[in-house]
Amino acid sequence: MNTVLLASNRGPVSFTHADDGTLTMRRGGGGVVSGLSEVVKDADVLWVCAALSDGDRSAVRLAPGGRLDQAGYDTGPVRMLDIPPATFHRAYNAVANSTLWFVNHLLYDTPNSPQFDTRFRREWESYQDYNAAFALALAEEAAHGARVMVQDYHLTLAPAMLRVERPDLRIAHFSHTPWAPPEYFSLLPDDIAAELLTGILGADQAGFLTARWASAFMDCCEALLGAHVDRVQRTIGYEGHLTRIGVHPLGVDGDALWARASEPDVESHMAALRERVGDRKLIVRIDRTELSKNIVRGLSSYRQFLTDHPEWHGKVVHLAFAYPSRHDLPEYREYTAAVQRCAQQIEDEFAGEDWDPLILNVDDDYARSLAAYRMADVLLVNPIRDGMNLVAKEGPILAPHCALVLSREAGAAAELGSDALLVNPYDVSGTANALHEALTLPEEERAKRGTRLRAAATALPPRQWFADQLAALGD
Ligand code: F6P
Repeated sequence: MNTVLLASNRGPVSFTHADDGTLTMRRGGGGVVSGLSEVVKDADVLWVCAALSDGDRSAVRLAPGGRLDQAGYDTGPVRMLDIPPATFHRAYNAVANSTLWFVNHLLYDTPNSPQFDTRFRREWESYQDYNAAFALALAEEAAHGARVMVQDYHLTLAPAMLRVERPDLRIAHFSHTPWAPPEYFSLLPDDIAAELLTGILGADQAGFLTARWASAFMDCCEALLGAHVDRVQRTIGYEGHLTRIGVHPLGVDGDALWARASEPDVESHMAALRERVGDRKLIVRIDRTELSKNIVRGLSSYRQFLTDHPEWHGKVVHLAFAYPSRHDLPEYREYTAAVQRCAQQIEDEFAGEDWDPLILNVDDDYARSLAAYRMADVLLVNPIRDGMNLVAKEGPILAPHCALVLSREAGAAAELGSDALLVNPYDVSGTANALHEALTLPEEERAKRGTRLRAAATALPPRQWFADQLAALGD
């Protein structure tokens, strides 16, 4: 039985079948996982996660009770849930990533607007089943009075389900995404919107990355549930239960990041990059190829900048890292193609014999990303909307003289906004102007801003972020 438990869709490890049929274990991917892996490494926290692939499912079947640590894997305490693949697919792809992600990032547009029909109802049932599987496992593993930290939009229903099973537990939910305003959130069917909100209100504490997302959640609870919201105390009362609202702006462990970024593989990527770009200025972006990251408008802004400022031709290179993401979904496959088309246009229009204006890398390589951060003169982070965006925090830590062009719709803008060049992510011309301003920002000004950006980026590293939330739940 465990006294602290963590629940998230992705876990700290994942498995693949090698050609000879054996299982190979790797570190799990994604922002939440990398932050939390550091945190729980030395603590006795049971991590409950889902099996995501056939490799994961094979590993679970070999592990007693799904406990990987008890099957001899060197993982720390981990229980992986073998949810039936079709249920998992509907819960993760259709509901979490195609619906909840789109709602909270305001991604629907007219040609791509949702239709909530009988098929969606079936998908919703799978999302309920998936959340119920987590609630059941947590109820089985938690010691009396244990603290349970439930993460993200995949698991919005689990807190209320768990409370029914185990009223003795202290439960927290944390949203790593933005939260939509009520007028947008209410495009969901009324019963589903209510179930999502009351699911989180089953927790004693609901955490958000910024005051803006916390406030949107409170607005939804008030407008759609008629809950009693106290904005001064930051509490929500609903059907006799009180949920405290917390704002915890996740930051970066600067020392750990520097330690990793000083390793030889990063240094050799830096040397190779320098060889390729010479002494040209570098505009860097690093993202998953994710619709909310707004990569196409970012590339269009660079194109506009090159059109407006021919004096920069041959003197600047845009290094755009756009790693594959969620290729099971057609929207993401189409978006990847759109990014590539846009990159090709820049190439066709501006490339010369001895100048490549754009280097687009689409394969994931962490060491190469760290090398790019270290060499950046300008970092472009222009999401349509983002819970936090840790790229905006990692860049200034590794590149002390780098100017940051940042979307005002990223959660990170709340802390970094006064030292970044803030842009409206839809405004391609405005972003093009900001790129020029960033490239021409005087050295002294960059250094001053860089010092303050670094301080803000490291203010709440993952370990402290997690400890604060545990403390808020009580001992
Ligand atoms: O932004 C919240 C988050 O959980 C990230 O940590 C993660 O990158 C993403 O959402 C989920 O992505 P995926 O679908 O690849 O797990």
